[in-house]
Amino acid sequence: MIKLGVVGAGKFGTNILNAFKQLESEGKCKLAAICDINKELLENQAKKYSVKGYADYKEMIDREKDIYGIAVATPDPFHREPVLYAAGAGKHIFVEKPMDITVEGCKEMLDACKKNKVLLQVDFHKRFDPFHIAVRNEIREGRAGEIEYGYAYMEDKIIVPRDWFPGWASKSSPAWFLGVHMFDLIRWIMGSNGKQVYARGRKLKLKSLGIDTYDSISSMVEFENGAVVSFDVSWILPEDFEAIVNQGFRLVGEKGLVECDSQDRGTRASYEKQGVMTYNPVFLNESRDAKTGGTRYSGYGIESIADFVYNLEYLAGGGSLDKLEGGVTGLGEDGLEVTKIAVAVHKSLDSGKIELV
Ligand SMILES: NC(=O)c1ccc[n+]([C@@H]2O[C@H](COP(=O)([O-])OP(=O)(O)OC[C@H]3O[C@@H](n4cnc5c(N)ncnc54)[C@H](O)[C@@H]3O)[C@@H](O)[C@H]2O)c1
Repeated sequence: MIKLGVVGAGKFGTNILNAFKQLESEGKCKLAAICDINKELLENQAKKYSVKGYADYKEMIDREKDIYGIAVATPDPFHREPVLYAAGAGKHIFVEKPMDITVEGCKEMLDACKKNKVLLQVDFHKRFDPFHIAVRNEIREGRAGEIEYGYAYMEDKIIVPRDWFPGWASKSSPAWFLGVHMFDLIRWIMGSNGKQVYARGRKLKLKSLGIDTYDSISSMVEFENGAVVSFDVSWILPEDFEAIVNQGFRLVGEKGLVECDSQDRGTRASYEKQGVMTYNPVFLNESRDAKTGGTRYSGYGIESIADFVYNLEYLAGGGSLDKLEGGVTGLGEDGLEVTKIAVAVHKSLDSGKIELV
C-alpha cells in the first residue's frame, strides 16, 4: 500500500489530511507522517490523525524512507524548498496552488521532478468542479465558436487574510491566493496560455490593518488564442457577505456565450444574526459514512487530492509516468504557466504598463 506524507498541516493541510485518511479507510493509501513547524499545531494534528509528526520536512523525508508521495501545503512562498527536497528523494508530489510565486522557482521544481522521474501535480481543484467541466466541454465542442472575450472574478471575505493567516498574507496577494485559480480555470477551459497583461490594484483596507498587501487587483489578460479576459480578484468582502468566497465567470464567443455562477449553487440558509448564506456543496460536502459511522467528505475539494492518490496507485502498480502525464489534469507545466500570468500581473502593477507573460 502506498504511504503518504504531508508538509504543512494548517487550514488546507487539514483538508488534505481528511482526504488521505478517508482514502486510507478505503484501503487506497496510508498516511505515514506529517510535518509542521508550528509545534502546538503539529502535536494536535498528529494526535487527531494518529500519525507520526515531524517539525522538519527533511528529517521526515530522510527517516520515512518508504513514503511514496508527499503533499505540500505550506504558505504560498514556501512550496519550493520542500518540493525540491522531496523530488530529490524520489517522492511523487502534490503541491498546493500557486506552485511557486516565481517563474524560476516553478522551472526549478519542474526540472527536479523530471530529473528524478516523479509526478508533480498542482492542486487546481476548480478543474474537478462538475459545473466547470460542463462549461469546458461546451467550449471545447466549439458551440460558442471562437472565444472573443470574458470576465472572471474571485473574492474572499476579509476574514481570510485578516484572521486565517495574518502572518503570511503580506507575502501573498489576491492574485497569488485567488487569481491563480481563475487564470488556470480560463486557460484550461480555452486550452490557451496567457500572452500579455495589464493590471491595476488598490492597497487601502488591509494596509490600514497593518497587513501590507493588495486589497484588490484587476487585470486584463490577452491569451494566445486572441481572447481577452478581465479578472477581478479581492479579499476584502465584508464579514456579512453570503459566502466565504464569491466567484464566477463568463466567456463570450462568436457564436454564443457561457456563464457560470460558481458561488451561488442554489442552496441558501438564513439564521438569526447571520443573514442569508449560500453553500457550495459541490466543493466540500460532509455526510455520514455508512461503513465507519464517521464523516464522509465529497466534492471537488477532495476529488483533486484523491486523483493524486489514484495516480500514485497506478504508478506503484508499474504504470508509466509518461503515459500518466499525458492524461493527468493540473501538472507542474500548468503551475508554471499560471505563475507566469500572476508574475506578469504583479510586474504590470509595479510598472503601470502592459507586460508580457
Ligand atoms: N486549493 C485551494 O483552494 C486552497 C485553499 C486554501 C489554501 N490553499 C493553499 O494552501 C497553502 C496553505 O494555506 P493554508 O490556508 O493552509 O495556510 P495555513 O497558514 O493555515 O497553513 C500553512 C501551514 O504550513 C506550516 N509551515 C510553514 N512553513 C513550513 C515548513 N517549512 N515546514 C512545515 N510546515 C510549514 C505553518 O506552520 C502552517 O501550519 C497555501 O499555498 C494556500 O494558497 C489552497
